[in-house]
Amino acid sequence: MIDRLKVIKVEAIAELGGISDLTELERWRIHYMGKKGQLTQVLRQLGDLPPEDRRIIGALANEIKRQLEDELAGFKSRIARTTVESKLEKEWIDVTLPGYPVSPGRLHPTTQALREVCSIFTSMGFQWVEGPEVEWEYYNFEALNIFKGHPAYDMWDTLWVDFYNEKGEMPMLLRTHTSPVQIRIMEKTRPPVRVIMPGKVYRYEATDATHESMFYQVEGLAVDKDITFADLKGTLYEFARRLFGEERRVRFRCDYFPFVEPGVEVSIDCLACGGVGCRLCSNTGWIEILGAGMVHPDVLRRVDYDPEVYSGFAFGMGVERISMLRYGIDDIRLFYSNDLRFLNQF
Ligand code: PHE
Repeated sequence: MIDRLKVIKVEAIAELGGISDLTELERWRIHYMGKKGQLTQVLRQLGDLPPEDRRIIGALANEIKRQLEDELAGFKSRIARTTVESKLEKEWIDVTLPGYPVSPGRLHPTTQALREVCSIFTSMGFQWVEGPEVEWEYYNFEALNIFKGHPAYDMWDTLWVDFYNEKGEMPMLLRTHTSPVQIRIMEKTRPPVRVIMPGKVYRYEATDATHESMFYQVEGLAVDKDITFADLKGTLYEFARRLFGEERRVRFRCDYFPFVEPGVEVSIDCLACGGVGCRLCSNTGWIEILGAGMVHPDVLRRVDYDPEVYSGFAFGMGVERISMLRYGIDDIRLFYSNDLRFLNQF
């Protein structure tokens, strides 16, 4: 029996040397010290021995059991330690490394131009308001004297929204200009009105260097008693000079928009050549920056403003165009192609 115990001990310790994980270790424990384990079986037989042998062999068996238990405990803690160590090894980070720089970003050139334009007008007492981009046909057209069949109705290539009213008409669209906001404001308020209305507009366009299907406009409207064309001119002169420089010359020429009468196009002398004529101004010396005019009496009547009492002026301009002129950008598509090489310059 003594020999048997010694063999068990040697075998057990040798086997332990080849074990590398906890499942194997548990199998090893059961094999030697489990209920039916090698060592347990020897201990069970002790009762059958004469008392003298029982003492000696019992002591030896218990001694071996303790040794194996010690080995087991030692092994367990070694495995635990190496697991932690290898984990630490794998997940090691150098906390002293400098962090990734956070790019602060910047405002889009359109946003910059839009804010600049609007702040010039807010400083003159205009109030910043916005209207919906998906608009009723009525506000985009009829309310502004643009009727079906009228050539001006086709002037804008419209993106219709797939939405029908009871009459089976398609009465909603992506607004083609910011002018419908004029109507919305006048319907809700009584004169005096002085508002600046920036926002996105949409057109069904074959895009090219000067046409995008989405772009920004800034619309302006002033209605009060005794507003005259002189107020329109004075306001837009002041605006053009604040935005493009004190020395700018401004030109007003007749133009047609159904919702104003008279209507004008406003140009500034060319930024590039100072009016001599160059590529930027197509050799005319002038660059058109906006459309404007005196609010049409029918438009006023439609919102219940008495044109005998009130008069007003309105204007609208393309924001990207302003930015293009100032920075010499020659393709409007650059604004929305999300190319950082372009955007980072502003
Ligand atoms: N809404 C016109 C356009 O998009 C611009 C405009 C606004 C003209 C206000 C006159 C008065 O072309």
